Amino acid sequence: MNCEAIKKKVRGEIGKEILCYQNTASTNTLALGLADTSAEGLVIIADSQKSGKGRLGRTWWSPPEKNIYMSILLKPRIEHSEVTLITIMSAVACATAIRKTAGLKVTIKWPNDLIVSDKKIGGILTELKLKDKRISHAVVGVGINVNSGRDQLPDDIRETATSVKIEKGSTVSREGLISAILNEVDQWYAILKDGGKHMLLEEWKILSSTLGKKVNVVIGNRTLFGVAESIDGEGRLILRLASGEVEKIHSGDLTVLR
Ligand code: BTN
Repeated sequence: MNCEAIKKKVRGEIGKEILCYQNTASTNTLALGLADTSAEGLVIIADSQKSGKGRLGRTWWSPPEKNIYMSILLKPRIEHSEVTLITIMSAVACATAIRKTAGLKVTIKWPNDLIVSDKKIGGILTELKLKDKRISHAVVGVGINVNSGRDQLPDDIRETATSVKIEKGSTVSREGLISAILNEVDQWYAILKDGGKHMLLEEWKILSSTLGKKVNVVIGNRTLFGVAESIDGEGRLILRLASGEVEKIHSGDLTVLR
């Protein structure tokens, strides 16, 4: 990974400081450890991860030299209830950057899966530290399958995952894609901080492949079935149940039903 090439293309506050590693346990864990002594906008990038973390306690497949494993440190002044907006903002930024850089029709599966051709090309894991019920910092972890080929995908995700290379038919520069993501995050984060929540949510809705679909959502040991109607001002999924009632969901594992 050519860290200098990334630094040259980054324009804003996000990525003003970038630390690149060949291998680490998890860029999120590293960023969480550095958060108290680092400024907002710090970015940690690794070429591979020994114990990459996915959502809901899963592991994230993180082989060397092919893909993107990156964490961004943010210190947003928002209520705990609004933290989903950080994930929503990051998903919009990543989807837009992949669309612009690789020309792929990326959509977002609530809340933060990046999807191409009904398969997962990337995901976002936001981890928080709270102080007096407010967010002291948030670490946004971005994992994107970039240059892995289909035959390199492990068996357990071969049917459900894809990569930029598989979809585009050619490799793309990880450095170019990373700098595009950081510049998009810089822009969308500024919009969010400047009261542009409505604009962000509208953009998320345009990019969403979830809204209007029949879905099931697993929340702990509960499974809910319904139609994904919308998202509210906190980024919660508005799920219309068969009974006609509405559930507002902060976090869960969603499957679009066919
Ligand atoms: C998901 O399950 O969809 C979220 C995956 C997030 C993976 C990224 S890779 C960089 C960062 N460090 C981690 O350990 N996880 C995130």
